[in-house]
Amino acid sequence: MTPVAGTPHPEWDDLDNGGAEGSTLVDALGRPMRDLRISVTDRCNFRCQYCMPKEIFGANFAFLPRSAVLTFEEITRLARLFAAQGVRKFRLTGGEPTLRAQLPTLVRVLREVPDVEIAMTTNGTMLKTLAAPLREAGLDRVTVSLDSVDDATFRAMNDMDFPVALVLEGIEAAAAAGLPVKVNAVVRRGVNDHTLLDLAGRFRGTPHTVRFIEFMDVGTTNGWKLDEVLPASDLVRMIDGRWPLEPVEPNYTGEVAQRYRYRDGAGEVGVITSVTQPFCGTCTRMRLSAEGSIYTCLFAAGGIDLREAMREGASDAALTSLIAGTWRAREDRYSELRSQATPDLRKVEMSYIGG
Ligand code: GTP
Ligand code: 5AD
Ligand code: SF4
Ligand code: SF4
Repeated sequence: MTPVAGTPHPEWDDLDNGGAEGSTLVDALGRPMRDLRISVTDRCNFRCQYCMPKEIFGANFAFLPRSAVLTFEEITRLARLFAAQGVRKFRLTGGEPTLRAQLPTLVRVLREVPDVEIAMTTNGTMLKTLAAPLREAGLDRVTVSLDSVDDATFRAMNDMDFPVALVLEGIEAAAAAGLPVKVNAVVRRGVNDHTLLDLAGRFRGTPHTVRFIEFMDVGTTNGWKLDEVLPASDLVRMIDGRWPLEPVEPNYTGEVAQRYRYRDGAGEVGVITSVTQPFCGTCTRMRLSAEGSIYTCLFAAGGIDLREAMREGASDAALTSLIAGTWRAREDRYSELRSQATPDLRKVEMSYIGG
């Protein structure tokens, strides 16, 4: 591995065990590359308005043709190269990852990469049939997106009339298969905020941690409005008013969720504050899209194409140098810049939005 650029962030106390061959790859802001989010398909059976609104992702939308999507061999080859550069967690994402045919086969081959945790973020609709085979193939845990346990609210948010019972059954199936489960809920003021205590209550007393995510301005199609962001601090206050909470130390540097425990011992909840308290300073995530481009930020305008390089015969060394060069040059901190560019934001957290 070539020498390292950037200066490690003082918070990285575990840099030694990250990179291969003794040195750790860090970006221009000193952040190591630890997580690889692998999108295995651009398709989804939901049409959540904040993510894939029907007006755009309708019958005529051109999803990627099969030939454009990375094969399992291509994904695994890249995954190995990322792991050799310090990645310690693969997270399968989409679209909806469970729509990819033969997903357990992919997990089985990724499992052969040493010292890497494998997680998946899913809408849960296919877990009834897939949880056991995925677990058996070596999946370590799942995060299920579930924005409300109120059936009418849930049906409206997925915009495909999927009943909430199906997802709850999926969560049960995952737990029964031995998969640890987290639940992610995107919070939109005026859409599902009236059902959040019910959601917290539904999973209180279970090992499944619910994490509430501030609605983000991802992409350009989701009609994001600042006044739809319910600051996590308000939400924590709301839950604490019903079931007293106390903060929990992060599991690891760079953990996205801030965690709280119920003082009566009924488990934990978390909040993901990407709007009101951005966490770019500890962001260790690289993203690999279904068609094989890498993105250094959730909000990146463009990616670096690895698929063409691979299909044109690039060697592992050439791919590694593309990956490492991309990471070294990385200086993204979109969420922090957004909050600086919106001076009202922190005030908003306390008063305008939070009042
Ligand atoms: P674990 O802590 O290992 O469970 O994973 P995680 O919290 O990193 O993964 P998960 O996919 O569950 O992330 C939770 C949510 O946080 C995502 O669905 C996004 O909405 C948000 N999120 C995750 N990563 C980022 C990021 O890099 N930037 C921003 N702005 N939001 C992110
Ligand atoms: N803001 C916050 N979270 C979002 N997700 C998708 N779009 C947004 C958004 N605009 C969440 C999903 C899922 C994960 C993949 O990202 O609910 O949990
Ligand atoms: Fe997007 Fe997930 Fe909703 Fe599918 S289930 S539309 S991927 S947020
Ligand atoms: Fe990471 Fe970009 Fe999200 Fe900041 S905005 S936490 S840099 S993905």
